Amino acid sequence: MNQPVMGGVAALNVPAYIKQQSLINWVADIAALAKPDRIHWCDGSQAEYDRLCAEMVAAGTMKKLNADKRPNSYLACSDPSDVARVEDRTFICSATREEAGPTNNWTDPTEMPGTLNGLFDGSMVGRTMYVVPFSMGPLGSPIAHIGVELSDSPYVAVNMRIMTRMGRAVYDVLGADGDFVPCVHSVGAPLKAGQKDVAWPCNPNKYIVHFPETREIWSYGSGYGGNALLGKKCFALRIASNMGRQAAQAGGGNQSGWLAEHMLILGVESPEGRKHYIAAAFPSACGKTNFAMLIPPATFEGWKVTTIGDDIAWIKPGADGRLYAINPEAGYFGVAPGTNEKTNYNCMASMRENTIFTNVALTDDGDVWWEGLSKQAPAHLIDWQGRDWTPASGTKAAHPNARFTVAATQNPVIDAAWDDPAGVPISAFIFGGRRSTTVPLATEARNWTEGVYMAATMGSETTAAAVGQMGVVRRDPFAMLPFVGYNMSDYFQHWLNLGRKLGASNPAALPKIFCVNWFRTDEHGHFAWPGFGDNMRVLKWMIERIEGTAGGIENIFGTTPRYGDLQWDGLPFTPEEFEGITSIDKDAWRAELTLHDELFAKLAHHLPAELTAVKAALEQRLAR
Ligand code: OXD
Ligand code: MN
Repeated sequence: MNQPVMGGVAALNVPAYIKQQSLINWVADIAALAKPDRIHWCDGSQAEYDRLCAEMVAAGTMKKLNADKRPNSYLACSDPSDVARVEDRTFICSATREEAGPTNNWTDPTEMPGTLNGLFDGSMVGRTMYVVPFSMGPLGSPIAHIGVELSDSPYVAVNMRIMTRMGRAVYDVLGADGDFVPCVHSVGAPLKAGQKDVAWPCNPNKYIVHFPETREIWSYGSGYGGNALLGKKCFALRIASNMGRQAAQAGGGNQSGWLAEHMLILGVESPEGRKHYIAAAFPSACGKTNFAMLIPPATFEGWKVTTIGDDIAWIKPGADGRLYAINPEAGYFGVAPGTNEKTNYNCMASMRENTIFTNVALTDDGDVWWEGLSKQAPAHLIDWQGRDWTPASGTKAAHPNARFTVAATQNPVIDAAWDDPAGVPISAFIFGGRRSTTVPLATEARNWTEGVYMAATMGSETTAAAVGQMGVVRRDPFAMLPFVGYNMSDYFQHWLNLGRKLGASNPAALPKIFCVNWFRTDEHGHFAWPGFGDNMRVLKWMIERIEGTAGGIENIFGTTPRYGDLQWDGLPFTPEEFEGITSIDKDAWRAELTLHDELFAKLAHHLPAELTAVKAALEQRLAR
């Protein structure tokens, strides 16, 4: 549906099935500002997806992979300057600096529109503007919300079709006056008449901007991942976290509000058919997709793990006082390096076809490769920057943050309820950072407040998902440091309030909170815990704790399993080795609590007194 340019403004040609005038006006306003040559209203069909991919192949943005090896799949390679989320260019424009809090970059919401108008003025010249309607969550679910992204990137349009429920049906839910989150995205690379395009247009000047009051998102300069697929981090976490808290502040029928969390959701079923759903928060690139698709060890006969989601959870209290969660996404945008048939068989099976790969290497037979896919690297590859590569090259063939985009329905262990509009009841939350020392394998909080403290003070060694120095421990409260769209201390308070309200109405329904660390290393610097499928051993202990059948030992920080509380069949792991990953080094913890002090000093404005009280109690226990 490419429209000719008419007097410098692309014809709108609104499809007749769109009934909402305010949406049409907004599209017209953005078109008048960004001045695309054409406007395309995405219908979400397979034919549209195929056509856009074919156009990107012709333009050199994507390569079609060998159809015998990887049917219907593509490889896109980005500009080397555009490979990850740009946290230092991410802004929260709430009314005051305090509302954004010290963990966000704040800019005055009265100033930022001027900057954005300047940037977006003519930013889509020479390009097509895609109108991408999407639902975060099952269409029409009471937990779901709708967004519309205007983007000049066809890569964004096709990825959004996989990552969200995208297409025409969204307009039926929206009707004449339904709410939607307006998302505006430009790669910031207008084309002058006759100018040849590049394979991955982008702009060194990047802005990822959120307006929590008006619930708008504007993104400029990047075509990559969470910077550009605006349903994901920008909407489903930064804006949605605001929406969940605003719902609590508005009071009314549901005074608890709701939660938008950086969490996978999995189902665990015991051999007797008892089923629990667990939501787990880990910082970016810490194996969330692996955990969400875990295959229990062979000795765990009859245990099943199924996936609801691998990255984001929206969680609302139900009428029965339990918390119900949906996965707002419809696909996985996972990290490829390190993924293989052993570390995540189900993930490899998910991406056998219909997959978009970004920044992985191309094999000579037209398939993909990344570090960790096979023990031995192929003798020759084209690396993610389009250069010849051999094992002697001394560089990585795939970018460490290389990704795959696949539909959730391709996951062989997708949970039967993954698309249930009512969501699934949550029995427990798990929080886990990447820590080579100090934090033990698993700890159960004694109560909700202690669990919130554990989550709030979580630290993790940094990975390649965001631009910056790798391997440094940073405090990453709730694995939400880059994603809470308001003041972090108010976010802690929101969690505490929710627990208090739910606990008052139905204490038995309050999920348990656990803290885990799969990443402790031994004296040689090797991971001491096998992880992956063996994490089932910890998961089983948690399920039994929820059901009140497993033992544990209470220590300074909560309750941890003893060696005998875990099932060991099939894994030669000695009590001494177990001690190595569960021991509590008091000196290390004293140093750790000093770091909690630093965090709390930074977050002093509105820091809940309950959290400082938990810390004081921990210090007392540590001193004994
Ligand atoms: C992601 C991230 O892409 O957390 O999921 O960075
Ligand atoms: Mn993530």
